[in-house]
Amino acid sequence: MGMKERIAEIHATMTEELGMAASTEKIEEIRVKMLGKKGELTALLRGMGQLAPEDRPKAGQMINEAREKLTAILEAKAAEIKAKEREEALKRETIDVTQPAELPRVGSQHPINLVMDQLVECFTGMGFEVLEGPEIELDHYNFELMNIPKNHPARDAQDTFYVDDNIVLRTHTSPMQARAMLTRKPPIRVICPGRVYRADEVDATHSPVFHQMEGLVVDKDVNMADLRGTLNAFAEKLYGKGITTRFRPSFFPFTEPSTEVDLTCSNCHGKGCRVCKGTGWIEVLGAGMVNPKVLEMCGIDSSVYSGFAFGIGLERIAMLRYGISDMRLLYEGDVRFLGQFRK
Ligand code: DAH
Repeated sequence: MGMKERIAEIHATMTEELGMAASTEKIEEIRVKMLGKKGELTALLRGMGQLAPEDRPKAGQMINEAREKLTAILEAKAAEIKAKEREEALKRETIDVTQPAELPRVGSQHPINLVMDQLVECFTGMGFEVLEGPEIELDHYNFELMNIPKNHPARDAQDTFYVDDNIVLRTHTSPMQARAMLTRKPPIRVICPGRVYRADEVDATHSPVFHQMEGLVVDKDVNMADLRGTLNAFAEKLYGKGITTRFRPSFFPFTEPSTEVDLTCSNCHGKGCRVCKGTGWIEVLGAGMVNPKVLEMCGIDSSVYSGFAFGIGLERIAMLRYGISDMRLLYEGDVRFLGQFRK
């Protein structure tokens, strides 16, 4: 078979195969098979050595012309297929803008964390520093430095989870007062949110694990009016204008004088309702002037400095704020309940 016929044959095969090709991959396959380094046309070029020397230039020229022509045909076909593929892809990937959007699944924050964040924001805004400490606490900090002596009823095994004779699960965040005073010099302004533990039976208003936030201010000339002003600011910030505090005398070993603090019922704004049992007030925290004995035990000169402290129960705040009637809901992890608390 002469060179011309061989070329014509390659041309024919290639056109036929291209005619059937329907994808970019297939085109590439044909290119390799016909025009590639080991392709049929290249084989012709290699076989030229067997031709008579005077025939070689002519044959070479023919092969090169064929390569150019076939390459052009192939590229034209490749472009055609590429355009088609693109069109199909566009059709396939068309976005139906009238379809209802699939909303991303968004988590929610736990009501206790929401309240904690709000309190932290409120107090850091007043210049308080946030301090966290151990939940497994030394008896020394939890009781001794808080002026709760060995035979005080609060130490009763019924209330306290003991790890051993000297270690307890903290029963309140108050030991953080001692930790703050022992590691800082006045002026001290700290809040200490966290988990606390008491051996209580579970019911609608009790849980063996709950949350408190301790507050402590120690400086020169700190007095009860500063405590009142701070807590009033907190009440307004958290619940809005018109919410104020009422102080009732009380007793805590670590404060003297001590007070139980009520807030205007945010449900009825003091008129009296079911939530506040008709009184117009809700009890939310304990507070007082830091007992000088506590200051001294924590290395602060009580003849120069004074301080106030307060302890807020976060469950109570959360329950009031979100109208939650049973504390157990806060710990059961039911997503139908928890999903309701979006900021
Ligand atoms: N530690 C107390 C409790 O757990 C709460 C408390 C009362 C904290 C008075 C204080 C305070 O800082 O001054 O019941």
